[in-house]
Amino acid sequence: MLLEELGDLRQLAKRELDALNGQEELDNWRIKYLGRKGKLTQVLRSVGSLPKDERSSVGKVSNEIKSELEKIFQEKKKSLDKKRYDDKIREKIDVSLPGDPVHQGKLHPSTRILRQIFSIFSPMGFQIFDGPEVETDFYNFELLNMPPHHPARDMWDTFYINEKILLRTHTSPGQIHAMKQFCPEPIRVILPGKCYRYEAITARSEIMFHQVEGLAVGKSITMTDLKGILIEFAHQMFGDARKTRFRCSYFPFTEPSVEMDIDCMVCRGEGCQICKQTGWLEILGAGMVHPQVLKNGGYDPGIFTGLAFGMGPERIAMLKYGIDDIRHFFSNDLRFLEQFG
Ligand code: PHE
Repeated sequence: MLLEELGDLRQLAKRELDALNGQEELDNWRIKYLGRKGKLTQVLRSVGSLPKDERSSVGKVSNEIKSELEKIFQEKKKSLDKKRYDDKIREKIDVSLPGDPVHQGKLHPSTRILRQIFSIFSPMGFQIFDGPEVETDFYNFELLNMPPHHPARDMWDTFYINEKILLRTHTSPGQIHAMKQFCPEPIRVILPGKCYRYEAITARSEIMFHQVEGLAVGKSITMTDLKGILIEFAHQMFGDARKTRFRCSYFPFTEPSVEMDIDCMVCRGEGCQICKQTGWLEILGAGMVHPQVLKNGGYDPGIFTGLAFGMGPERIAMLKYGIDDIRHFFSNDLRFLEQFG
């Protein structure tokens, strides 16, 4: 009688285990059949009170059933674990799900413009030349034709480190470094880099900014070359539709000196706030290298002539992208920086 019950119990337990599918059901099954208060345990506990002849067979069969149920429980547990794991994996590589966007870095607008400048001048034969950011007064001013107390020094408010050392206020001292290195060979270089000026920070001026200097020295370089190079530059940077003009200007290290304007692309020359009603936007300073500066670089001004120009990538970026405040460039606001490139 009890043996029959045990047989039924075994069948039922196996059927239920087969049918179940979740972790919780599995736990309940284990408690029901194998737990301390489970059916099988109860039978095993009652074995002692059975008549002697039944005792050993019931005990034996119950123990056999118990180990069989434990074994199939472990197998079931394993297969459920595996199924759960497989589901997880499939979840992870569900190719039908939209991908997580990867945050992509952007080029800083100054870097973008610097690279564009390089790619315009490089096919014209200009190679990049680096000068130091920390300069001497001698290179930043004197060798550029500005002896101490020269009034033109006022054009550049200067961060002095001490009496003789300063942070370069422009990339022009690089002209002298290049000339001293290349003399007496002809030169065609551009000199990019950071410059510093002791100024109040406003929408129009920063204490640190970039410049790109250009310098060509040779035996037959003329003002026509200067104009040709710069007009080509303006068209490539701002578009073929731009008009250009050269105005007379003054720099102690060039003679003659000019500034170059493009017609305002916002109002197309009509006059607006951006161009302060003039219709023109200044984009760079330039000129023919002053004979004294050629001499300071080691070249004989009776034989050699040179052209030079200097421009600010931030200013160019502001004009090109319509940026109204130079402070955006170095205040590290990603909302600004991510709009470029
Ligand atoms: N160094 C000048 C400036 O900072 C620009 C310039 C460069 C002018 C080369 C003439 C020739 O304003």
